[in-house]
Amino acid sequence: MEEIDKENLPRHIAIIMDGNGRWAKKKNLNRISGHIKGVNAVREIVTACRELGIKVLTLYAFSVENWRRPKDEVAALMGLLEEYLLKEREEMIQNNIRLSAIGRLEDLPLDVWNTLKEAIKMTEQCNGMILNLALSYGGRSEILHAIQGILSDFQKGKVKPEEINLQRFSQYLWTRGIPDPDLLIRTSGEFRISNFLLWQIAYTELYVTETLWPDFNRKELLKAIADYQSRERRFGLTSEQLNGREE
Ligand code: IPE
Ligand code: IPE
Ligand code: MG
Repeated sequence: MEEIDKENLPRHIAIIMDGNGRWAKKKNLNRISGHIKGVNAVREIVTACRELGIKVLTLYAFSVENWRRPKDEVAALMGLLEEYLLKEREEMIQNNIRLSAIGRLEDLPLDVWNTLKEAIKMTEQCNGMILNLALSYGGRSEILHAIQGILSDFQKGKVKPEEINLQRFSQYLWTRGIPDPDLLIRTSGEFRISNFLLWQIAYTELYVTETLWPDFNRKELLKAIADYQSRERRFGLTSEQLNGREE
């Protein structure tokens, strides 16, 4: 904790929570036990981020590709999601956490979608941390969805082609209003993006840890933040420019 500079915290942390299955396998348990354990890690990390004063935490909980997993695993994940939302929503309100979600939410089972909408509505007035869940999420789907939105507004005469710039395009993404992630963490050692936030991570700092998601905890999070703080984010400039030694 002493290593963390409170003045230089990432505003937005995004996490690819990977490795539940491998965690379970190592312990000779079924994959679903890994997901159950994974939910505990979610609780710990949400609390830690809130206490630290992180403004936005985006958790990749379920990808568009994950629908193709075995039926019973998908059902278990949907059940865990609904249970999480029902259990945590009061605590979110108490802790001033606003829930939001990105993804093809209409693909979720109807009861889960309704519970999600309800929790989002219940926490609408909260203005502390934003907990943003990526559910049935795919970065490519998000970009296509944005293009469809632009074309539809074009047809209605609401937007002209020359008006589409980077900022305007971002307004059509599911993450509208949310700043791009400063830090992206992936657990379980895989060096890939797996269709997460493709547009938004253009200048995000990446951090990969071998730790499997169910074992990821507050201490690991602080380690990732300390690592982030040791980086020089240059955004294409030179180090001298950033340090004011050169125009
Ligand atoms: C992440 O853990 C959870 C989801 C993708 C829903 P995995 O289930 O992908 O775990 P591994 O990668 O098989 O270990
Ligand atoms: C990425 O993990 C998706 C989530 C964490 C929800 P996966 O386990 O689905 O990714 P791949 O298949 O290893 O790329
Ligand atoms: Mg995985």
